[in-house]
Amino acid sequence: MIDTLESRAEALDRLKTFLRIPSISTLPEHKPDIRRAADFVLGELLEAGLTARVIEDAEGGGNPLVYGEWLGAPGKPTVLCYGHYDVQPPDPLDEWKSPPFEPDVRGDDIFARGSSDDKGQTYILIRAVAGLLKTNGRLPVNVKFLVEGEEETGGEHIERYVATRPPELACDAAIICDTEMFAPGLPTICVGLRGIVYGELCVEGANHDLHSGVYGGAAPNPIQAIAEILTALKDRDGRIRIRGFHARIVPPGAEERQAWARLPFNEEEYTRGEMGARELTGEPDMPLFERLWARPTLEVHGIRGGFTGEGAKTVIPARAVAKLSARLVADQRPGEAVEQLQQAVAAACPRGVTAEFRLIHGAAPSLVDPGNRFIRAAAGAMTEVFGRETVYIRSGGSIPIVGLFDSHLGIPSVMMGFGLPDDNLHAPNEKLHLPNFYRGIVAVARYLELLGE
Ligand code: BES
Ligand code: MN
Repeated sequence: MIDTLESRAEALDRLKTFLRIPSISTLPEHKPDIRRAADFVLGELLEAGLTARVIEDAEGGGNPLVYGEWLGAPGKPTVLCYGHYDVQPPDPLDEWKSPPFEPDVRGDDIFARGSSDDKGQTYILIRAVAGLLKTNGRLPVNVKFLVEGEEETGGEHIERYVATRPPELACDAAIICDTEMFAPGLPTICVGLRGIVYGELCVEGANHDLHSGVYGGAAPNPIQAIAEILTALKDRDGRIRIRGFHARIVPPGAEERQAWARLPFNEEEYTRGEMGARELTGEPDMPLFERLWARPTLEVHGIRGGFTGEGAKTVIPARAVAKLSARLVADQRPGEAVEQLQQAVAAACPRGVTAEFRLIHGAAPSLVDPGNRFIRAAAGAMTEVFGRETVYIRSGGSIPIVGLFDSHLGIPSVMMGFGLPDDNLHAPNEKLHLPNFYRGIVAVARYLELLGE
């Protein structure tokens, strides 16, 4: 059987090994760890009985892709399992209750960077396939794996690979475990993601720093300029003020809106408990889930410039940089959104400085049709395993591969997520709820069985 005490202990033990590897894709000094994480995935796929290899990106300098396949079910559908072995940086380190790369089981949760996003969930896919092969000596459908190491940096290498439509990626649908359940115990399928454009707003004033007493009143201030540009791009009500930005937005239909309104939800608990905030903000008169899942955003992530050390220094900085991103919703296009953003920046740029938005990465938004047979089978499997009706939600996050699978391979993605809203993704004390880990393995295995019938 694929779910025994022994198999659970082994799965947990191996997961810990995976989580101990600090495979942080955004930091160059972790390149060797990226390699170790790819090798871990490769080893697991081989041991499970798949044919597998690492696809190097020698010229491109990208992180290795791990590819695997088991194609012993002729006439049955082929499912592509996608996950990512890279993680976000763990900082701020002093807020972790246990070190981020020393997985710690406390109660029913395992705490470590990547436990939920996405090593733990990628490992669910691997264990499901491994368990089926071990139990039956075969799989009910054909299975392929594509596990990447640049998801968290919006890396473009996988896009180039998928865009060549390599024959080894031919398949009928993808399954991705990299999203969340709406609430504990509530089986959830995600049918929509936001896209993103991420970049730097670079602002330059004088050609060197200036004494703020001697020159204040005459000199342009790049940090002030960033503040002015930001407030011109988004108003106090959270409305984005970028010309043309909303033109392509497709509002959710009445049925989907009604389904969202029926989700079990306590706004007070969400605000104070989950977010730890005082109150919610954003576009007035727009329901919360529409703001989160079906409206674009503009957020500033950090501002660098001037003096930020201890004590006081009276200086007008010569330059400043703000990290910005906009989340996009269907049918917004990343390329067009960048142009609109750049034009809005130019129009809002105050006198005396230059301002330029430089793109770092982009990904398209995605919507999947919940009526397709793959989603229906997945919902059936989740309902069986969790003993409750599966709900369909969207998510505000981005998973670039979903749009790429759609546009380049023409396949739907089934997003069967086992994270929880309080998993602290990208934050200190990231965790995975272990009952979800074990049930996730069973649910994915059941999904493959249902597809094979
Ligand atoms: N798994 C997340 C996205 C996610 C989180 C989807 C929660 C649904 C619910 C993914 O790993 C992620 O964080 N993606 C980045 C993508 C970006 C860097 C291109 C994101 O959304 O910020
Ligand atoms: Mn992530």
